[in-house]
Amino acid sequence: MQHWQHSSYEPYLPVTEKSNPITRDIDKASPKEIVEMLQKCDAEIFERTSHGNPMYQTLNSSSVVQTIVDVSKRVEVILKDPEDSLIVLSGCGTSGRVAFLLATSLNRWLASHHQKQIYSYIIAGGDKALLTSQETPEDDPLLGALTLGKACVGKKHVLFIGISCGLSAPFVAGQLDFCLRNLEIFTPVLIGFNPVDMARTEPIQNCSFHFKEVAERMNEMQKQQKAYVLNPAVGPEAISGSSRMKGGSATKIILETILLAGHEAAYSKKAVTFNGILHSLNMFEKVHQITYSQTKELAALVQKAAISLRKKGHVYYLGWQTLGIIGIIDASECIPTFGAGFEDIRGFVSNGFSEMNNKEGDLSSLGPHFIIDHKDFVDTILPNLSDNDTVIFLYSENDDLNEVSVLAKNVRQRTSNLHAIAHELKGLSDPERMRSQFMTVLTIKWPSSLYKHSPVLMKQYWELSTKWCLNAISTGAHVLIGKVYMNYMIDLRVTNSKLYRRAIHILQRFTGSTQAQCETALLRAIYDVEELSDEMSSTDVTQHTLVANKRGRVVPIALVMLQSRRTIAEAKSYLDAYSVIRDAVAACQRLL
Ligand code: F6P
Repeated sequence: MQHWQHSSYEPYLPVTEKSNPITRDIDKASPKEIVEMLQKCDAEIFERTSHGNPMYQTLNSSSVVQTIVDVSKRVEVILKDPEDSLIVLSGCGTSGRVAFLLATSLNRWLASHHQKQIYSYIIAGGDKALLTSQETPEDDPLLGALTLGKACVGKKHVLFIGISCGLSAPFVAGQLDFCLRNLEIFTPVLIGFNPVDMARTEPIQNCSFHFKEVAERMNEMQKQQKAYVLNPAVGPEAISGSSRMKGGSATKIILETILLAGHEAAYSKKAVTFNGILHSLNMFEKVHQITYSQTKELAALVQKAAISLRKKGHVYYLGWQTLGIIGIIDASECIPTFGAGFEDIRGFVSNGFSEMNNKEGDLSSLGPHFIIDHKDFVDTILPNLSDNDTVIFLYSENDDLNEVSVLAKNVRQRTSNLHAIAHELKGLSDPERMRSQFMTVLTIKWPSSLYKHSPVLMKQYWELSTKWCLNAISTGAHVLIGKVYMNYMIDLRVTNSKLYRRAIHILQRFTGSTQAQCETALLRAIYDVEELSDEMSSTDVTQHTLVANKRGRVVPIALVMLQSRRTIAEAKSYLDAYSVIRDAVAACQRLL
């Protein structure tokens, strides 16, 4: 049994919020050890058995595979009769970004095959949230329901897939509740990675239900095949709570398995079967093995990125087609996850917003966070590029390699610190000439057996593989520059109720103080006062998070205050002496 599966291991936390024993010492690890830890953590997605623990189902459990079969058949029905029908994928943060990527990719595929485009995506906070973190709307169930209602006007059959890795987002709970009250139109599906018993029970403001109550209603309805819950446990995240990592990858794997099985059934007359689904899941496990077979090369990129960040340089991902979008997503997540500056790690995609094909169109007028085209990179970044910056190209042999070469030549004139992650199909064309253009190329060779199995899936495999590489690079680099303590991101932004609760838990974990003491210290740091007024103490969590959004370092400040009984001003000047959170926290631990 995995250590985290024991009932005594962090018993008050759901799986998705527990700390992973594998990465306990990630903050002291070498780049190679970091990659190896991430490899093991990601391998937990494919655990075959829950080791007799009835509490958990795994991705390969027969009940999970059977639910995937059932939902895939629903997809097939909609694809065969697309009039007045819709498949909506929805989530917050990374979950919404994965929804976007799949919905737009599959609509494109449908259009190219002269079929009706029946996919739609919803991300809390709208398209802005594809590129920047918008965490406040995640707390709003009514907004979730209203957005869903609007997207489905006039539709008679809607398959709604709501993703909340932690079974926690009120935005998604509101949507599922809306579906459950309109089952004549909606078939709701919930994807997440906790047992229903561990779903969030915190009351939602102005709302009569919490997440767990909705998840239980979904479970009830599943008995009549009117709703479905897909919630295998895939183990805790490598960085505690960071569901952009395993949560995002597992969501992508499940959704792709469901939707492509539905497509094959509708258009290739290949019936959805239990074994067929198991086989698809096994293929994703192969993707994991192939990607992580390059530990040394990946570790070298982690190291390069860390050196750049340490020297106050930057990391730039320049990707083609959806690999560019994977790069943009990974980069945008570093800001809320690691408190990174927006310039630290940035992503660009060939053809910018026309490649994104997002609902709200070109967002570049919204400001620098929304500048994503290679052309923008050439105009605004290239002139100031230096050897302190690490540039990583992301392409496959299906891309226009001449275009890749031209851009590589331009970049090389400014820096030799140019690398590539390239996907190659064994036995097809030989992109050897490309290698000479980069300092290093992490070539991921894909066996033609995978390609033969499903050419459509190849693109999805490359995306997932690139996601794993970039998650390792951006996480590893931030770990190496000291942003993480043990496997906790302590300096988290407290911008919604989930993150507020996580912050309190982290304070309890490291100080041993009571929940009430930790909450008080956190609020003092948020409101920047020594003494909380009655109004501050009695106002709701939403208000606290709105104020916290404007403040930096609230959790480290509260931690120092709790640990050393210092005033706010003293805690701040104490922290000013440390640029590295890990050092600050370690020193603070010694204060007692
Ligand atoms: O609150 C922010 C966040 O944690 C993101 O990092 C994450 O992608 C998003 O919430 C969604 O979380 P979940 O899928 O568990 O609802």
